[in-house]
Amino acid sequence: MNDFTYYNPVCIHFGKNALDELGEAIAPYAGPVLLVYGGGSIKRTGLYDRVMKILREAGRDVVELGGVMPNPRTEKVYEGIELCRKHNVGLILAVGGGSAIDCAKAVAVGAKTDKDFWQTFYVDAERATAAIPLGTVLTIPATGSEMDSSSVITNWAAGEKRGYDGDPLIYPKFSILDPTITYTLPKNQMAYGIVDTMSHLFELYFSAPDRENVTDDLAEGLMHALIRAAREAMADPQDYDARADLMWTSSVALCGMAGNGKDNDWASHNIEHAISALFDVPHGAGLAVVHPNYLEYIRPYATGKLARFARRIWGVEATLSEDEQAAEGIRRTRAFFHELGAPVTLAELGVSAAEIDRIAAATDLSAWSYKQLTQEDVKAILRMAQ
Ligand code: NZQ
Ligand code: ZN
Repeated sequence: MNDFTYYNPVCIHFGKNALDELGEAIAPYAGPVLLVYGGGSIKRTGLYDRVMKILREAGRDVVELGGVMPNPRTEKVYEGIELCRKHNVGLILAVGGGSAIDCAKAVAVGAKTDKDFWQTFYVDAERATAAIPLGTVLTIPATGSEMDSSSVITNWAAGEKRGYDGDPLIYPKFSILDPTITYTLPKNQMAYGIVDTMSHLFELYFSAPDRENVTDDLAEGLMHALIRAAREAMADPQDYDARADLMWTSSVALCGMAGNGKDNDWASHNIEHAISALFDVPHGAGLAVVHPNYLEYIRPYATGKLARFARRIWGVEATLSEDEQAAEGIRRTRAFFHELGAPVTLAELGVSAAEIDRIAAATDLSAWSYKQLTQEDVKAILRMAQ
């Protein structure tokens, strides 16, 4: 195990009645509330009305930042910063998925500085010195943003998608996790969220150290829960226990616990971020294409770990050679993503093979685990994904 410092202060309210806790959760943070939400799903499902009722009963003034798009863009963040300054916002409440939450996090630090939020935090990686407190009501299990200290924003004009990572100031103060809120998710969004969660676990698990350790054991347990719950929820979208497992698995996968003491990888995420910065594809869909091919590409450097994964997660027979086990584990992972309905080729994602060089040029190469990647490696991985 590597040395680590772990800090995660997010207060989680989990369960069928978790939204009942919202009034009490916001009470410590005075002032107008900035309500941040996406393209309209919360209005269609009635969640907007439920949240507004609670905020009204608490006597809070509400300012709205709606229309946050998937892969949230800088323009939306600037809009939110203006609203915060104009209305002297005291609490930001994101109701939605990773996109609404990440936009809210960017607004939270952006409103507290005179500098440009994008250049300062997302490009120059300077640390913020203050943030407006933030709470979330999660509507889709996927990114883990509800319980982590990262935010990913797209600068569409620059063709860049960047993270602002590891700042304790952007941990939500609280997150409301009610699995019944996810009943309304379309199946494609369910699939993307499941793939994203699995991909987070892969980024952590497929990295040194590889000697038996509790963090890898935890990741394997989460992978089992994810696969089981994914199949149950796909078969019966109203299966509460499956929805509950999906929601809690996605939060735990990226709250730090499944990566403590590990090197971490993030190469697949960086390749996907380049794809969605250029083609605006859903994050989980891009990962379903990239991650199995990335694992295939690093197979010669990660054979033992991939073989262990294949045996323990997919039940691949130990009688095969290690390399055959590793290959079979990757094959079953890709088949699982396909079974969920996620795309597994660039063509299925709607991205032409002619774009491979452009994607490789836009990929941040700073993160890797078993093999340091070059632009040529990224091109080779993407060619495998055609
Ligand atoms: O926008 P609305 O109308 O709300 O619809 C959303 C959106 O179209 C819909 N949806 C969400 N909950 C729903 C629902 N529809 C019906 N019923 C519900 N209960 O689902 C669509 C996707 O939502 P979005 O928030 O975009 O998805 P996700 O949570 O996957 O977030 C993706 C963003 O998070 C970033 C991604 O790069 C991407 O920009 N990530 C953030 C991370 C972090 N902060 O730690 C890490 C991740 O690796 C990732 O990069
Ligand atoms: Zn992700």
